[in-house]
Amino acid sequence: MTANNTLFRPFSLKSLNIKNRIVMAPMTRSFSPNGVPTADVAAYYRKRAEGEVGLILSEGTVIDRVSSSNDANIPHFYGTEALAGWQNVIDGVHAEGGAMGPQIWHMGIMDNHHSGWVPSQPFEGPSGLNRPGNTNGNTMTDADIADTIAAFGRAAADAKRLGFDCVEIHGAHGYLIDQFFWNETNKRTDIYGGKTLAERSRFAVEVIKEVRKQVGEDFAIIIRLSQWKPADYNNLLAKTPQELEAWLNPMADAGVDIFHCSQRRFWETDFEGSDLNFAGWAKKVSGKATITVGSVGLDGEFLAAFGGASSNPSSLDELLRRMDRGDFDLVAVGRPLLADPHWAQKIRDNRTVELKGFSKEALAQLV
Ligand SMILES: Cc1cc2nc3c(=O)[nH]c(=O)nc-3n(C[C@H](O)[C@H](O)[C@H](O)COP(=O)(O)O)c2cc1C
Repeated sequence: MTANNTLFRPFSLKSLNIKNRIVMAPMTRSFSPNGVPTADVAAYYRKRAEGEVGLILSEGTVIDRVSSSNDANIPHFYGTEALAGWQNVIDGVHAEGGAMGPQIWHMGIMDNHHSGWVPSQPFEGPSGLNRPGNTNGNTMTDADIADTIAAFGRAAADAKRLGFDCVEIHGAHGYLIDQFFWNETNKRTDIYGGKTLAERSRFAVEVIKEVRKQVGEDFAIIIRLSQWKPADYNNLLAKTPQELEAWLNPMADAGVDIFHCSQRRFWETDFEGSDLNFAGWAKKVSGKATITVGSVGLDGEFLAAFGGASSNPSSLDELLRRMDRGDFDLVAVGRPLLADPHWAQKIRDNRTVELKGFSKEALAQLV
């Protein structure tokens, strides 16, 4: 069992043709003033392509709704200037032989950002809530929902037009799409609400259908999902394999090619009686390709990193065991690649003593 055999195999699915199984996880960096990715942002992604990352997923980049973001330095995926910035990004990545997809994002109901910046209209979400009992914005009308779905579609169409290799819809981590999934933040009594997770997935399904309509059949669509959310790390949206199937399959039917299954620790299991992780279960019940993520090659998880915790390099053996077993197709890596553009090459060449781990200083700049 070597990283070379397992991780450094090519992967192809529709528009996506990548040289190995390593994916750069989407990581918000807030280095795009007024929503426009700068030359430094383009250089940062280009370096990861040069460093042999198979597929780069961009930091979350927000769609064309006035209140889709709570931070003025998070990139937009709309508007002439921002899209020109993204054109530089993808051209640089392709020049190094890499592949990339933007992670298109609407944050939904947010807490106000610590900078004091707020969008010119209130935040919006399924029921005005971002966690139980906490309201900080409007409940979306039918017209708001229809316009938001259309905005996701336009972003996906722009991704294809600029030459990106795929698109990822951010459906995880307590943001807008996940606010629809969760019964604690979706109290709607219309067609976008309901008692079951499958009923509350209607918004996501309509977003996916619109994205598919805009990009055509041959462009790869990824959706990122998580069972957990910052308001409840132990949450399980799908409490049984049957609920997982009822959640994922309508999204697969609507056009998802790859489920990106976000965990804080990839080795943790959701359901008793099996050691399959979220990506393993998602592949089993949907038959679709999946991406796993969460503390790959590190000994500490990422939310602790926001509190200042460092992590040291750790063995890939357990990851490789699961991957060799066929549990998932691709592996996303966050903090190691944020700190070190050469992580993938070091793994490939077995230069383990050169691995850097992660410390919070890496968040302060684009290296
Ligand atoms: C600084 C930072 C920013 C992040 N921003 C995003 C984001 O924009 N979208 C997203 O889906 N996940 C985001 N994440 C989560 C990562 O994509 C990834 O799932 C997480 O870091 C776990 O992977 P790791 O243990 O390899 O770091 C972020 C993580 C970090 C550390």
